[in-house]
Amino acid sequence: MAEALTLWRNGRVATCDESMTVFEQGALLTRGGRIEWVGDESALPEFRAPAEVRDLNGGWITPGLIDCHTHLVFAGTRATEYAQRLKGHTYAEIARAGGGILSTMRAVRAASEQQLFDESAPRLQALLAEGVTTIEIKSGYGLTLADEEKMLRVGRALQHAFPVTVKTTLLAAHTLPPEYKDRADDYIQVVCEDWLPRLHGEKLIDAVDVFCESIGFNLAQSESLFEAAQALGLPVKMHAEQLSNLGGSQMAARHRALSCDHLEFATAEDAASLAAAGTVAVLLPVAFYCLAEGRKPPVPALRAARTRIAIASDCNPGSSPGTSLLLAMSMATRLFGLTADEALAGVTRNAAHALGEQAARGTLEPGKAADFVIWNIRSIEELSYWIGFNPRRSVIRAGRVTL
Ligand code: NIG
Ligand code: FE
Repeated sequence: MAEALTLWRNGRVATCDESMTVFEQGALLTRGGRIEWVGDESALPEFRAPAEVRDLNGGWITPGLIDCHTHLVFAGTRATEYAQRLKGHTYAEIARAGGGILSTMRAVRAASEQQLFDESAPRLQALLAEGVTTIEIKSGYGLTLADEEKMLRVGRALQHAFPVTVKTTLLAAHTLPPEYKDRADDYIQVVCEDWLPRLHGEKLIDAVDVFCESIGFNLAQSESLFEAAQALGLPVKMHAEQLSNLGGSQMAARHRALSCDHLEFATAEDAASLAAAGTVAVLLPVAFYCLAEGRKPPVPALRAARTRIAIASDCNPGSSPGTSLLLAMSMATRLFGLTADEALAGVTRNAAHALGEQAARGTLEPGKAADFVIWNIRSIEELSYWIGFNPRRSVIRAGRVTL
């Protein structure tokens, strides 16, 4: 038997489609987990009698938010390193001295799968409370096959335990593990030839990422990884031009990467290449803030090139210990100069593109997932306006009220 139709009426619907269409007297028809119809209530097709009618009480409705770049699964904290940075030590300096990502690697290796899950779950719950219905979670703190696998399994387990869609990304190329000291090429080779096919075979990865940076991996190593991933049919993405410009975004664009993320040191040419390739520029303002970076991503150039811009929390223990996508939106507007509409598109439609999920979610359109948030706000701009206040009223995921 076909599932029943539900009518959600009396809402102000921000579809977040390409034209950012808003229906002031809006309604949605959903069937099971999908949207069947969206529009002005006056245009509701009469022949579709819903089994159930839900009143949205004049609230604003947006698509469920999408956090398209996180390292949410980790153990421990790096508050001591933050304190060191406050005294003038830099992120790169701490990393070179064996701290940084390697210090979280030690904590993750020492943690059981259950411990990792238990430490990560509250962070996910904080994001869900803000209306996040889809999240990307990277590995990258295990750096052995077994520990990367453990992280990815926790990512999948979170999806089973909570009302959320989780996309997992293999970030084995996050930093060089101690076992491969001075042998970065050998490490990349083992990841390409052994880890990738195995983890892909276990259906644990949805995409492959690399930290292309002087304290990460060079251009040639990043490209080998992309080739190996793409040979398996896996999409690729890159931490690019965060602390310097190694030409990562140009190479990623040549490989039609889903996204290039950070981009503080990207140029106008990089922006144009990303736009031409359909690669999304993912901006991570909380990391910019927390590292007190001096250089901002080239937003005017990205805008001029019509590059898709997404915003994410980058939740991680080092550069971005935050679990608020709404705060990332506020920072993207104030610190990077995005408009309120750009910020909203950045956590909905464009974030879906950054995950290759644009056909399934990210806008309120027929055929897409019935993932949406009802907000206690008077104008849609409030979503990037409040700082530390959460105006979420209710969350619907796959057609069901979850919060
Ligand atoms: O996106 N830049 C590399 N990766 C993370 C930081 C990870 C960490 O410091 O633990 C980022 O900022
Ligand atoms: Fe990151």
